[in-house]
Amino acid sequence: MRCDVITLFPELFSPFLDVGMVGRAVKAGLLVVNLIWLREFGEGVHRSVDDRPYGGGPGMVMMAPPLMRAIESIEREKRSLLLIMSPAGEIFSQNMASSFLKFDQLVIVCGRYEGIDQRIVELSGAREVSIGDYVLSGGEIPAMVIIDAVTRLLPGVLGDEASSAEESFKEGLLEYPQYTRPRTFMGLGVPEVLLRGNHKEIEEWRRAQALLRTKARRPDLFERLLLTKRDMELMERYSQQGE
Ligand code: ADE
Repeated sequence: MRCDVITLFPELFSPFLDVGMVGRAVKAGLLVVNLIWLREFGEGVHRSVDDRPYGGGPGMVMMAPPLMRAIESIEREKRSLLLIMSPAGEIFSQNMASSFLKFDQLVIVCGRYEGIDQRIVELSGAREVSIGDYVLSGGEIPAMVIIDAVTRLLPGVLGDEASSAEESFKEGLLEYPQYTRPRTFMGLGVPEVLLRGNHKEIEEWRRAQALLRTKARRPDLFERLLLTKRDMELMERYSQQGE
């Protein structure tokens, strides 16, 4: 996967691209990230990239010409997707991350200020994407969120460890709680069922915990689940028993 990121602050990406899973993917050549400094495409001696909004109002808007020059400077692969990070975009999700795998290239525009000139969206056919219902100071962190979520799905980046969490999220369920050593920590033990080694019982307990958590924390997701008779029985059993 190749990602071209248009930003006013390329330096924000350095530790992100150097360490951990993303760092390993870059070193292995599975992920190539090309940072494009928007300022280089700015207007006039000051290389301006923003101006006041037509119609008035607070803040500044990113001008179309520098953005278009930056977008056009990028060599596009055949299967390439252009994304603009914006709090007014469609909400990013695990399913959207998976759907990006059919592309060889993501071109990501990071907005700053009050947003970008709408004509860029119209002329470029970009998809506007938001990472959630809150306003950040720029699209750089959202771009990193998308690159991270997509990179961990690239073949060869993670082993099997990724798959179970992904599958449960795709199904619309939150993950069950996890425990590791020590067996007792500050007076708290580990649910007995996980220590008994009965795989069927463990699977049922985990399923019940995932269902009960989703119901309590994400009623919006829970409502959309297609529960089986067994799911209802498990929830009933473990909501009383605890474990
Ligand atoms: N820019 C500012 N806030 C954002 C958000 N929540 N998602 C994407 N881009 C943004």
